[in-house]
Amino acid sequence: MLEVENLRIRYPGRDRPTVIEDVSFAIAPGGALGLVGESGSGKSTIAKAIVGLAPVTGGSIAVDGSPIDHARARSRRALHDRVQLVFQDPRASLNPRRSVGDAVADAFVGGATISTSVERGRRLAELLEQVGLPASFAERFPSELSGGQAQRVAIARALGRRPRLLLLDEVTASLDVSVQASILNLLRDLRDELGLTYLVIAHDLAIVRYLCDHAMVLQAGVVLERAAVAELFDEPRHPYTKVLIDSVPEMESPDGRELALVTGDPPDPAHRPSGCVFTSRCPIGPLHRVGREICLSDRPPLSPQGDAEVACHFPITHSAGAREVFDAPRTVST
Ligand SMILES: Nc1ncnc2c1ncn2[C@@H]1O[C@H](COP(=O)(O)OP(=O)(O)OP(=O)(O)O)[C@@H](O)[C@H]1O
Ligand SMILES: [Mg+2]
Repeated sequence: MLEVENLRIRYPGRDRPTVIEDVSFAIAPGGALGLVGESGSGKSTIAKAIVGLAPVTGGSIAVDGSPIDHARARSRRALHDRVQLVFQDPRASLNPRRSVGDAVADAFVGGATISTSVERGRRLAELLEQVGLPASFAERFPSELSGGQAQRVAIARALGRRPRLLLLDEVTASLDVSVQASILNLLRDLRDELGLTYLVIAHDLAIVRYLCDHAMVLQAGVVLERAAVAELFDEPRHPYTKVLIDSVPEMESPDGRELALVTGDPPDPAHRPSGCVFTSRCPIGPLHRVGREICLSDRPPLSPQGDAEVACHFPITHSAGAREVFDAPRTVST
């Protein structure tokens, strides 16, 4: 469905660093890939580049086997019929002066085979129903919607042209927990009903676990690990993935365990180290283990490790008897 190869992105401007460095991934039709990584790692940039909102300075993007050339109007139109991006803040993407009905209809009128107002009304009602809103909401304005309702409208707009791939960038991050759950349920139902494919960007690993079949861990524009979701969460191989997972509070079984926190900042893309991008903060790297200087000098390529792919010279092994003792730096949580 989506194939991204050797993607490289540098925003225009003097002395701007390369923010995405050689990222490749694919999502099969009907699949859902989670993209995780700390703030500034380049998650949104990747989603924006797919729809032409960030400059692709190298590599290629193909949808359904057709390479996308954002410079060509025809290619852009074909792309927008197949791929839609949904942002974190639904209100920012809705014009306060357009009613919900007009906003949703704007997204599909002109694109598909809608020619009469009866067809328009029918399609509008269908879209509102698909996102769980009563047809009467067509008359409302954005200021009359709750955050969750506004996000449903944004999703209805995205579905207008019957896309096959949705790029979901932190779509529940601005909502409270119970509303988050209802939007996540909606997204899962829509995926099943419409056979959609998802790229899911989320800080919250539980969301990736809930919605996705595969996940990819990004840091400073570099992929550190990629695996099936169960594999990634149960047997993380990259020390950064492990620290990310260990930093999630376990609500069900508070065992008094202090949370492992990634201390320090990720590398500035302008001064990305020549070795591994996680070295300066790695609990099992050269700052904590002798003989691991290679991490400082050589960037580890993403390589197969069991069923996963990991970019680490000393990945954590999970086979019996060969377990790496992992002593993540423990920081007292406040
Ligand atoms: N329009 C822009 N122009 C220049 N640099 C940008 C632009 N947008 C993002 N960047 C830079 O690109 C890098 C990646 O940003 P991006 O927004 O993709 O991160 P992110 O992983 O989505 O972070 P967050 O989790 O905070 O949303 C950052 O260093 C950021 O400063
Ligand atoms: Mg972002």
